[in-house]
Amino acid sequence: MTPDLMEEGARRASAYARMAAKDRTESGGRHAATGRPVVPGEVDVAHGRILYLEDVSVSFDGFRAINKLSLDIAPGELRCIIGPNGAGKTTMMDIITGKTRPDAGTVFFGSTIDLLRYKEAEIAQMGIGRKFQKPTVFEQLTVYENLELALKTDKGVRASMFFQPDSADSDRLAEVLRTIQLADSVNRLAGTLSHGQKQWLEIGMLLMQDPKLLLLDEPVAGMTDEETARTAELFLTLKGQHSLMVVEHDMSFIQAISEKVTVLHEGSVLAEGTLEQVQNDERVIEVYLGR
Ligand SMILES: Nc1ncnc2c1ncn2[C@@H]1O[C@H](COP(=O)(O)OP(=O)(O)O)[C@@H](O)[C@H]1O
Ligand SMILES: [Mg+2]
Repeated sequence: MTPDLMEEGARRASAYARMAAKDRTESGGRHAATGRPVVPGEVDVAHGRILYLEDVSVSFDGFRAINKLSLDIAPGELRCIIGPNGAGKTTMMDIITGKTRPDAGTVFFGSTIDLLRYKEAEIAQMGIGRKFQKPTVFEQLTVYENLELALKTDKGVRASMFFQPDSADSDRLAEVLRTIQLADSVNRLAGTLSHGQKQWLEIGMLLMQDPKLLLLDEPVAGMTDEETARTAELFLTLKGQHSLMVVEHDMSFIQAISEKVTVLHEGSVLAEGTLEQVQNDERVIEVYLGR
């Protein structure tokens, strides 16, 4: 256990306690706007949305990176987000995960959790997992140890000091290993994996925490065609059990996984529909060809 990890565990554990306290003291366990009970760790999707953004805006030095952005995602949905560089895709993920505060607008997780009231660590603890573009696995640890670590981090520092995986943990670990197709590589050092395998391992680490919503920023960038195809399969198995928001430029990948596609441009939604619909949309064609 490194000091870094202990710190991370402590941060998460206290975030969770604060979260519970916040819901108790500010709303008596109920959200004022809806009167529904708020249970940390549970998301109310009775209204058919796991994520809801309305009129969200943020400016950096006077430049509006996100401009009255509205969008929602259904439970279990796999939503693809496309759009030219600078459209605001990564900034949107920064807002959802609490890394960036918007100047205006509404961001809800389910129908009761106002994400703008929470900090980045609290939001992660609530079940929103984020995969950044570059893989960030622990290269000197084995595949197994990386996944085990993700489990420990989730349990908080006190629990993790005496951590022994119980049978439910072992089952979960085995299931994740199968899902990410690394069951044959459990004892390999993560540093020896291919770029694609490292990306899958990192997704596996997120899965160990059983996130309700997964945000993935350009997950197949730098992958071989075969790795890209296997990643498409992986995402198709994840959808339904988790909600996914996937930002990608690779259109063959989008084609393989997409139902509904949202096109972002200049910080707002330009078009939404099937991939075919948005690809035939005049405004979308103009945005892509006009560059
Ligand atoms: N922290 C920041 N400070 C200043 N400008 C930023 C910051 N984050 C993003 N931007 C700007 O906001 C715009 C949207 O960026 P980004 O969300 O990264 O776009 P995308 O991911 O769609 O390529 C870009 O013009 C970018 O330069
Ligand atoms: Mg980006």
